[in-house]
Amino acid sequence: MIENRDAKLVEDILRLKEQRKAIILAHNYQLGEVQDIADFVGDSLELSQKAAGTDAEVIVFCGVHFMAETASILCPAKTVLLPDINAGCPMANMVTAEKLRERKRELPGVTVVCYVNSTAEVKAESDICCTSANAVKVIESLDDKEILFVPDQYLGYYVSTRTGRKMHLWPGFCPTHIRIRPEDISRLKREYPQAKVIVHPECRPEVTALADEVLSTGGICRFAKQTEATEIIVGTEIGIIHRLRKENPGKKFIPASEQAVCPNMKLITLEKILWSLEEMAPEVKVSEETRLKAKAAVDKMLEIGR
Ligand code: 13P
Ligand code: SF4
Repeated sequence: MIENRDAKLVEDILRLKEQRKAIILAHNYQLGEVQDIADFVGDSLELSQKAAGTDAEVIVFCGVHFMAETASILCPAKTVLLPDINAGCPMANMVTAEKLRERKRELPGVTVVCYVNSTAEVKAESDICCTSANAVKVIESLDDKEILFVPDQYLGYYVSTRTGRKMHLWPGFCPTHIRIRPEDISRLKREYPQAKVIVHPECRPEVTALADEVLSTGGICRFAKQTEATEIIVGTEIGIIHRLRKENPGKKFIPASEQAVCPNMKLITLEKILWSLEEMAPEVKVSEETRLKAKAAVDKMLEIGR
């Protein structure tokens, strides 16, 4: 529901969006009011597919830096705006291209799979990209060479248990998802014995072990619609609760932890979106040399799909 104080802002954003021939894409963790004005709300894979397919001239990316970079990798002719340039992903910054090159020298011939939560430079050093929605399918598509998975050790570990593939795991992690503790899930399961537990694969293994389903944020939204369960414990960043409640008014969604907040996702506000459209800044653009190499890894992932 749009409050009165936001009505004028929303009107100005929508008017300017038309003038600029822009599309507003928002991640499932964005503030509720940002999700509500977006043309499309989704997970990382859905957002990159949407960016690749749009005929808009400008993409206003309401998410974090690596997501805007991925849009720029896929759409070099479009202007990609990130309304707050400081909205980064700390996990993406846990691996650098230089450190990755060093590790590749230690593991000659290794296949590098990078989680989309990584910089364009890291993607450029990788063989194939994946998101949490298609990581299992991406790993299953590979031949039997050794695999190095960067940067999320927990997603990597989860995928290795699902596929039976041993992988070298980079020691990165999401500072938001590690706040969700197994004891949070156990306590809520006692409180809501009928509830289904769905968590994101960035959670620690002790947490994913307690879940009924381990899914990307898009997968969580689909599961919530389809399940007959009316109580659902949600183990991921709490911004997703807005969409879940809006799309499923008859169901109860219980955040696994109120501590699971990604401060970077919350940097994007309606005021900043309007300012960004007015100034056509801050723009995210990847150098052509890096873009071409990174695009090869992203394209391979998109061919695999969900
Ligand atoms: P999804 O691709 O599942 O939306 O996850 C992105 C992310 O950053 C999770 O922390
Ligand atoms: Fe990065 Fe974690 Fe925030 Fe997702 S929730 S953007 S992985 S810090």
